[in-house]
Amino acid sequence: MAKDRRVPREKGLDNSLALMQEGYLYIPNRCRQFQSNIFETRLLGQKAICMSGEEAAKVFYDNDRFQRKGAAPKRVQKTLFGVNGVQTMDGASHHHRKQLFMSLMTPKRLQVLKDITAEQWQASMTEWERQGKVVVLEESRKILYRVGCKWAGVPVEEGKVAQHARDLGSMIDAFGAVGPRYQRGRLARNRMEQWARQIIKDVRSGKWKPSEETAAYAMAFHRDLNNKRLTTQMAAVELLNIIRPIVAIASFITFGAMAIHQHPEVREKLWADADNYRQLFVQEVRRFYPFGPFTGARVRRNFTWQGYSFKKGTLVLLDIYGTNHHPEIWEEPEQFRPERFQTWKGSPFDFIPQGGGEYEMGHRCAGEWVTIEVMKTSLAFLSRMDFRVPAQDLSIRLSRMPTLPKSRFIITDVSR
Ligand code: HEM
Repeated sequence: MAKDRRVPREKGLDNSLALMQEGYLYIPNRCRQFQSNIFETRLLGQKAICMSGEEAAKVFYDNDRFQRKGAAPKRVQKTLFGVNGVQTMDGASHHHRKQLFMSLMTPKRLQVLKDITAEQWQASMTEWERQGKVVVLEESRKILYRVGCKWAGVPVEEGKVAQHARDLGSMIDAFGAVGPRYQRGRLARNRMEQWARQIIKDVRSGKWKPSEETAAYAMAFHRDLNNKRLTTQMAAVELLNIIRPIVAIASFITFGAMAIHQHPEVREKLWADADNYRQLFVQEVRRFYPFGPFTGARVRRNFTWQGYSFKKGTLVLLDIYGTNHHPEIWEEPEQFRPERFQTWKGSPFDFIPQGGGEYEMGHRCAGEWVTIEVMKTSLAFLSRMDFRVPAQDLSIRLSRMPTLPKSRFIITDVSR
C-alpha cells in the first residue's frame, strides 16, 4: 500500500494571530511558501487543514467526506449567519431547507428582482443628483435594503431604511472582527432578528399578507421534514438569510463602481452590453475583488486524498480568495480583465466567489443568480452616470476581513 504523504505543517502553537494579520492572503501566502495547495496549521486552538485550488474545491464539496456540523464558529453565527441557519445543516434536512431557498430563485422571480432593482436605482439617482456627495457603499446598501425587502415581501418603513441598512451592514462587517466591530455586529443582529420575528408573526397571523411567491411567505409557512413549521426565531433567521446578503451585494457594487472609475474604457461597453459584456464584467468583479476569504467544513469520516490522510472531525478551510487568484487557474490573476470570462469553461470548482459545487445538494450560495442580476442592473446604471471622484483613500487592505476601499468610494457632482 502507498505510504501516506505528509501535509506540510506550519510551525507554532496557534497561528490565529497570523490569520488576523494577513487576512485574505493568509492561505495563499503559505501555499506559495510550502509550494503546496494544502497545509496544516493551528487556528483558534485546534488543528486546521487549509486547501486552495480547483482539486481542493472538488474534494471539499464532496458531501460524503465533509459536513458542516460544528464548522462555523458561534461568533460567525451570532453575527453573519444566524444561529443554526441553513449554512450549518447537513444531509436530508439541509437538502430540504436548501430547497426552500432555491424555490425562490425561479426565472420569473429573478425578472421581478431585476425590475425592482432598476426601479430603486431610478428613484435613487434623482436623490444622488441632489446630494453634493455620495458614499457609494452606504447609499447602495440603502437601495439594496429596499430591493431586498420589496422582493422578499417585507414592508419597507421609510423612517427605518437608514438604520436597518446600517445594521445589516454591521452584521456583514463583523465576520472577521474582534472587539467593537464584532460587538456592533452582534447588537445589530439582535435588533434585526427582533424585527424579522415580528414580520414572521404578522405573516402568520394574517396581519401582513405578502404574495405566496415571496421569501416572507415561504419562511413563515415552510414545514420541516417532520411536517412542523419553523420556530418564529428560525424563520426570522432564514428570512434574514435572504435580505442580509442582498444588502451585501453593495460591497461588490462599490468595487464595480471603482473598477468603472479606474478603467474608464469599460463604461461604453457596460452600457451597450454587446457580446454579453455586463456578464463578463460582473464575473471579473466577483473574481478579482476580495469578499469571502474562505469557507469551512469538518471531515465526516477518515479518508485519503492525493495520498494525504484526513481524520474525522478535522476542520478544513477552503481558500476562496486564493482560488479566484490561483496562478494555476488564472492567467495574470492580478490583472482586472473581464474578457478572460469569454473563454472560461464554467467549472463549478475553479471560480468560487460564492462557494463551489452544486446548489441543491451542496452549500454553494443560493443567491448567486440574484447577485449577478442585481450587479448587472446596478452597474449599468452607474456606467451611465457622470460623477467626479475627489481625492480619497481608495486602498483595499487585504488584512481586514471583510475588506472595502478605505473611503467606501466617495463621488460628487452626480448627473445622468
Ligand atoms: C454579496 C454577494 C454574496 C457573496 C459573496 C456570497 C457568498 C456566499 C458563500 C461564500 C457561501 C458559502 C458557500 C460554502 O460555504 O460552501 C454562501 C452561502 C449562502 N448564500 Fe450567499 N453570497 C452572496 C449573496 C447571496 C444572496 C444575494 C443570497 C440570497 C438572496 C445568498 C444566500 C445564501 C445562502 C442561503 C447560503 C447558504 C447555502 C447553504 O449553506 O446551503 N447569498 N454565500
